[in-house]
Amino acid sequence: MVASGLVGRTDVSHYRLAVHLLMALAIFSLVVWTAFDLRPAKASMDTRLKIPSIVTLALLPVQIGLGAFVAGLNAGFAFNTWPLMGDRFAPDGLWSLTPVWLNALENPITVQFLHRSVAYALFAAGMWACACAWRAGYRVRACILAAALTGQVALGVATLVSGVPVWLGWRTRPAGCCCWRRHCGWRMPP
Ligand code: HEM
Repeated sequence: MVASGLVGRTDVSHYRLAVHLLMALAIFSLVVWTAFDLRPAKASMDTRLKIPSIVTLALLPVQIGLGAFVAGLNAGFAFNTWPLMGDRFAPDGLWSLTPVWLNALENPITVQFLHRSVAYALFAAGMWACACAWRAGYRVRACILAAALTGQVALGVATLVSGVPVWLGWRTRPAGCCCWRRHCGWRMPP
């Protein structure tokens, strides 16, 4: 029988968790990319979709890395209220560590704040991509991406306000990948 490595200490370093999650994302992306290259009819990306797609695809790994930090630092417990953190948008204690950049890596309040903020930016960029895709004729894919993004944000908020139950927490991972997979799909003909 293989024993679990999680004996005694059940926590995993948030740095290791982020590396693990981002490497999985990189492998997943390579598999999807290779699958697209095997298709007989290759289509280049519609130029109207280029900028919103690049912005969204640049933000997504940042957000997934921050998600791993939230999970690894148990930063979901820092504040369980939404849309405000406690009674403020930017709560006290955001920059309590020195040097100031350390807060983005080690301070659960800052990490949760960044994860929320990047989520809003990602949602806006993704919806911009959806609007462009809709206009370019990729209507079904635009709807699927909009639904995946909305679902992901709703899942994140539900996880947070319900006190990060384990059964909800793990669901943020596959959903993040679905957003990624759907987005890569712009390279295929409609
Ligand atoms: C498109 C937006 C989002 C993406 C792609 C995303 C992605 C992720 C990922 C990949 C994780 C790590 C899961 C794990 O390793 O177990 C995570 C964790 C988490 N996210 Fe998000 N997230 C998004 C939006 C949000 C929002 C809006 C909130 C709340 C306001 C939120 C709250 C959380 C919490 C509390 C955790 C920690 C769960 C745990 O401790 O198990 N997320 N997110």
